[in-house]
Amino acid sequence: MPATEPGASAAASSASPAEIVVRGLRKRYRVGGRDVDALRGLDLEVRGTGFVAVMGASGSGKSTLLHLVAGLDRADGGEIEVAGQRVDRMSEAELTLYRRRTIGVVFQQFNLLPTLTALENVTLPGVLDGMDRKALEERGRSLLADLGLTERAHHRPEALSGGEQQRVAIARALLFEPRVLLADEPTGNLDSNTSERLWELLKRVVHARSILVLMVTHEPAAAAHCRTVHVLRDGLFAGSFDVDGIQSSNAASGASQGLESHVASQLALRAAELGRAPR
Ligand SMILES: Nc1ncnc2c1ncn2[C@@H]1O[C@H](COP(=O)(O)OP(=O)(O)OP(=O)(O)O)[C@@H](O)[C@H]1O
Ligand SMILES: [Mg+2]
Repeated sequence: MPATEPGASAAASSASPAEIVVRGLRKRYRVGGRDVDALRGLDLEVRGTGFVAVMGASGSGKSTLLHLVAGLDRADGGEIEVAGQRVDRMSEAELTLYRRRTIGVVFQQFNLLPTLTALENVTLPGVLDGMDRKALEERGRSLLADLGLTERAHHRPEALSGGEQQRVAIARALLFEPRVLLADEPTGNLDSNTSERLWELLKRVVHARSILVLMVTHEPAAAAHCRTVHVLRDGLFAGSFDVDGIQSSNAASGASQGLESHVASQLALRAAELGRAPR
């Protein structure tokens, strides 16, 4: 059964086409003569814009899903459609363009080049694509400004904090104005103050540019910023829930503990319930 979007808001009504559609997705890894079925026929639909989380126990297939949707690896079966394009049918050349133009990717290892400045790291994909240097530099500066890094444009990664490096990686992922941003544990290495500041900046950019962000996270505090949480269990879709629903029911009950930590603990509970194997 495909996942529907309980959190679909007016901006993401059921009339809008699903930005990401995954059907019957299968991926098997072979390690030391043993097969590991990371995805076993996963169905998932994600519509609209804004932030959507993928949660689930370690090993449930979250990163595998993101890699396949990002076109970084091939599936063993099933379909992947992103922004109307069939990723599973693309040639290598088409995948290269897809990765550059349609999506942006932010993984936990920021993969910044140590010898380049922040601005050079952000604009590098455009340089490789043969874009006009001057236009690129303007765009790079504007993205760095959006992410609060104007003063850091000429720093090399070693002279940037973890949160700043993360923001450079996000700016780079946004260089080609992707419709879809795929992120694996984007705030995983950051302290809570840094990650809250990143969220503020990211929300502004994502909403201003109408981007869909599909992000894998273990952190309820991160999922609390999303509108919907999809849960994976053993390589299959286990269910989804609406984060706004949890927030408004908590607001209505006037939770005495901080609203945010209350929402986070409820989110963690719901995700754990869905992710637990049935007895
Ligand atoms: N390159 C690989 N080679 C072999 N097995 C792999 C590979 N990548 C993942 N796996 C296996 O596939 C399963 C799913 O892995 P995946 O990385 O997708 O899980 P995950 O949900 O992202 O977990 P985590 O929360 O720990 O990051 C795991 O059992 C893992 O050991
Ligand atoms: Mg993972």
